[in-house]
Amino acid sequence: MYRTNTCGELGLANAGENVTLAGWVQKVRNLGAMTFIDLRDRYGITQLVVDEHAEAELKEAADGLGREFVIQVKGRVIERASKNPKMVTGDIEVVLSELKVLSKADTPPFTIEETSDGGDDLRMKYRYLDLRRPPLQRAMMLRHRVAQAARRFLDGEGFMEIETPFLIGSTPEGARDFVVPSRMNAGQFYALPQSPQTFKQLLMVAGYDKYFQIVRCFRDEDLRADRQPEFTQIDCEMSFVEQEDVLATFEGMMRFMFRETLGVEFGAEPFRRMSWVEAMTKYGNDKPDLRFGMEIHELTGLAKGHGFSVFDDAEYIGAIVATGCGNYTRKQIDELTEYVKRPQIGAKGLVWVRLEEDGSIKSSVDKFYAPEVLRAWATELEAVAGDIIFVVSGTRTQSLRVLSELRLEMGERLGLRDRAKFAPLWVVDFPLLEWDDETKRYYAMHHPFTSPKPEDIPLLGSDPGKVRANAYDFVVNGVEVGGGSIRIFDSSLQAQMFDLLGFTPEKAQEQFGFLMNAFRFGAPPHGGIAFGFDRLCSLFGGADSIRDYIAFPKNNSGRDVMIDAPSTIDPEQLKELCLEIKL
Ligand code: AMO
Repeated sequence: MYRTNTCGELGLANAGENVTLAGWVQKVRNLGAMTFIDLRDRYGITQLVVDEHAEAELKEAADGLGREFVIQVKGRVIERASKNPKMVTGDIEVVLSELKVLSKADTPPFTIEETSDGGDDLRMKYRYLDLRRPPLQRAMMLRHRVAQAARRFLDGEGFMEIETPFLIGSTPEGARDFVVPSRMNAGQFYALPQSPQTFKQLLMVAGYDKYFQIVRCFRDEDLRADRQPEFTQIDCEMSFVEQEDVLATFEGMMRFMFRETLGVEFGAEPFRRMSWVEAMTKYGNDKPDLRFGMEIHELTGLAKGHGFSVFDDAEYIGAIVATGCGNYTRKQIDELTEYVKRPQIGAKGLVWVRLEEDGSIKSSVDKFYAPEVLRAWATELEAVAGDIIFVVSGTRTQSLRVLSELRLEMGERLGLRDRAKFAPLWVVDFPLLEWDDETKRYYAMHHPFTSPKPEDIPLLGSDPGKVRANAYDFVVNGVEVGGGSIRIFDSSLQAQMFDLLGFTPEKAQEQFGFLMNAFRFGAPPHGGIAFGFDRLCSLFGGADSIRDYIAFPKNNSGRDVMIDAPSTIDPEQLKELCLEIKL
């Protein structure tokens, strides 16, 4: 037997027991007569002692140890003279009688402890060493627990876990596909699924009325902290349901998962709901962080026509109030101005109005606006003495984007985005279509299989941009955690949708014939949702990046620096695939 116990479980109750442990040497401290070794495995750390009574051979073996050697030891558990309350095993130590090196180790490139001295790149290159560190072990454990909680809930509700293929044709969901050449079908390519969307719909046609899958999805898109080229969804679909049924089921699932993994209870009130229009108007964003207020208010009517050309020429003028920030210094305001002027945000400037404690009012546009006018803004915005108002103008879309970013930044600065607080929200009534000025055509806002609201169907012919969809997102703390819709299950409506999206009937048949044909053989009404599993994990773990919750993630350039992928392939392999590289 390699071990009788793990390194994370021995305590005073075990004092006097003879144990065998195995693990990695985290640290060796040689104090002359005594040598202390910290032995680590994924369960914890146990302190080992080679004391003054140890045989010379054992002492020598202990002194020969290096960091990350894998060893097996035998010894007796004793109560520690100086206990370490910070360690689970801090009450005891194991006095060794035997020590065997199972595997030597080169000096690791960074310290493998709670905090590491290794930079990002180095730790990515040696990810298997980084994964030995407690923070990553905790992250992996959390991920495991989240997955198990989802499975328990869905199984309990009668959902069946069914796998769908990875080598498929392309499913258009907004991102680019990763493609895989087929050797047996020279010149042809598979695409890796951006999601199992069409397959789960086919499973509904097949009669598996409650499906789920914890499934890898692949999207060739630009990476951000919350995006990876391969990521995991908890993908779900149900038949004979309306939007309310789906929302109720998955609200239940989210409550269950928050409870099971974090012990968080949300109370009896249903989760808040907000229409897409309201989210965009009040928060400038379709995934508002509702841990704090600071809503956006439109000032277009009140601020136009006073000779300030920037505002007079603007399509939209909007503002937020930062409560209690009336004492902001010039420097702080300049900093914020620079923040919103960054190219990613793209503001042209930031106008401020300060409501001084003495009742006076100061602003960066005093030249154009009399105090009474500014006071009217304050009234509209419900701002009071001690507050500052930030005003942004431009096109409506652009200004709302700036105000949204500014709101989030102010929320951050004011400590209103507490990670231990969770504000769940359903955003509903998304538009069905999104117009793209560049290509001069409509795109499906969610995906082409999303159904329009029945009452809006007549608009499909006359004003497609106004049609609302039976689509919903689940948002927590400003993170889009999940999204789904009630699907079209009528092949003629589906054909109309493809037509609106600019597909010729032939092209639609070529790409989606399989789905439209399937719908001719008895398609049940159906709908579903997919949750971003990595995002759920990072939300539960209180982190911004999903990377730490993925065992082997890609870096920001989409590379796996550990195995050095992507890479070129052999000329032989290329030949077999009938491929030629032209750069
Ligand atoms: P959607 O595209 O909204 O819907 O994706 C569902 C959820 O997956 C997560 N997500 C990502 N997570 C990490 N990295 C990425 N690159 C990434 N892209 C998306 C998000 C998102 O909310 N087939 C539909 C679902 C449906 O209609 O049932 C779909 O894939 O958290």
